[in-house]
Amino acid sequence: MSTIDPQPAAPCHFVIFGATGNLAKIKLMPALYHLDVSGHLPPEMTVVALGRRQWSNEEWQSNLLDWIRDKVGTHFNAKVYERFARRFTYLSGELHDPAFYQELARLTCVNDTCGNTVFYLSIKPADFGTVITRLDEAGLNKPRGMHRIVVEKPFGEDIESARMLNRVLHEHFDEEQVFRIDHYLGKETVQNLLVFRFANTLIEPLWNRNFIDHVQITMAEEVGISTRADYYEKSGALRDMLQNHLLQLLTLVAMEPPPALEADALRDEKVKVLRSIRPIAKQALHSHAFRAQYGFGMVDGVRVPGYQDEPGVERNSVTETYVAAKFYVDNWRWRGVPFYLRTGKRLAKSLSMIAIRFRHPPQQLFRETPLEFLEPNWILLSLQPSESMHMEIHSKQPGLGMQTHTVQLNASYRHGHEKNLDAYETLLLDIMEGDRTLFIRFDEVEWAWRVVDPILKSWAENRQFIHTYPAGSWGLSEANRLFDKDEQVWRNSL
Ligand code: BG6
Repeated sequence: MSTIDPQPAAPCHFVIFGATGNLAKIKLMPALYHLDVSGHLPPEMTVVALGRRQWSNEEWQSNLLDWIRDKVGTHFNAKVYERFARRFTYLSGELHDPAFYQELARLTCVNDTCGNTVFYLSIKPADFGTVITRLDEAGLNKPRGMHRIVVEKPFGEDIESARMLNRVLHEHFDEEQVFRIDHYLGKETVQNLLVFRFANTLIEPLWNRNFIDHVQITMAEEVGISTRADYYEKSGALRDMLQNHLLQLLTLVAMEPPPALEADALRDEKVKVLRSIRPIAKQALHSHAFRAQYGFGMVDGVRVPGYQDEPGVERNSVTETYVAAKFYVDNWRWRGVPFYLRTGKRLAKSLSMIAIRFRHPPQQLFRETPLEFLEPNWILLSLQPSESMHMEIHSKQPGLGMQTHTVQLNASYRHGHEKNLDAYETLLLDIMEGDRTLFIRFDEVEWAWRVVDPILKSWAENRQFIHTYPAGSWGLSEANRLFDKDEQVWRNSL
């Protein structure tokens, strides 16, 4: 996990496959720009942007300027931008074409930084194999300096394809060179979860089945799929969000303290959690997983199209844009505690949070008073839109009689002057510095696919029907069938 002191990483060539794509535009380029502003990029570092579009360098530069201006608005720093833009060379070509890689080899061996290279694969998973093989053929994976390869999620589209992809990767690169990215691990709150759990003796004794009734992890987005149909149609919410981001959060909530804050120690603990997740039996699937797709609706007062009317989506598509699932972690600490996970596009608001609901007190001491029904305690860890921690407890209202109110103890993670680092800034810096703590090891990927595999298989067999929820809503009440008790409800706000 990188330091935020401006210590430039070792000089390197940063090569981005898929540089004209959505991720590069909205995340990677702004993150690199911010790292340049904060003095983290070495002066000699260059960026090679690769794409299929036949853009000239001038066209690339003009688009890059628009993307950065759009993203940073009034914080745009013209002087830094000039330095930033000079780092780039744009190269267009086809991913399967060997000549493309010869040209790349020529570009990445020109000055002092020759040899130190990061290859960032921001492309369709189906193209990973071709690129990895071609890099090898062009001799670009031979460690003349530091050579790293970054693979975006989803890693494979099921357990078999993930294994195959890993085999191809390892035929050409050593594991120490591989960085499997899940950008949720770069988010401040996610890292703070470790501090919250393991730096506070107050919390740890309560963090188990004796005190916790259930855990909810929500990633709700207001946005739809926009222009990503090509990718999303093959992925759906289960592969896009649950197999990776949501399950990663689950592991961090549920894991045991690692012996040290080192990449492998941490990942060992996460794998143990994934291995302990009870496999969902086919006949239990109905009560463990629910999928749906957005129809048209109103978002922020504007009418938006349904999923099937988005550009590039099949008319009868049954791709899920909403998924809710229930898992049990069958170990000493968590046996019997349901973990409810859900994510969706075009929901009522954008909100990512972990909500921990505690059990009712063991004795109904206030039964004969107006307090007959007391809400249990909650701990809420918010990732987005704001980063904060809330603890809900009850206290007596001042005055006569026994009335209570719920008091929220709020701990905001950030004070006004503290800069909001985007997850990609943290992770890109970690890649350049070679810190793999916040990246995924293959056994994590493999076990996560095992967890979702029964759901994938069952949904693949039932492709006639999918529920539709109105865009701008919280989904459908059918998702409530997952709850173990009537009193359990989705928590939609802090
Ligand atoms: C990506 C998914 O991994 O995460 C997108 O592919 C999703 O579909 C995005 O919109 C959400 O990330 P964040 O950081 O905006 O919550």
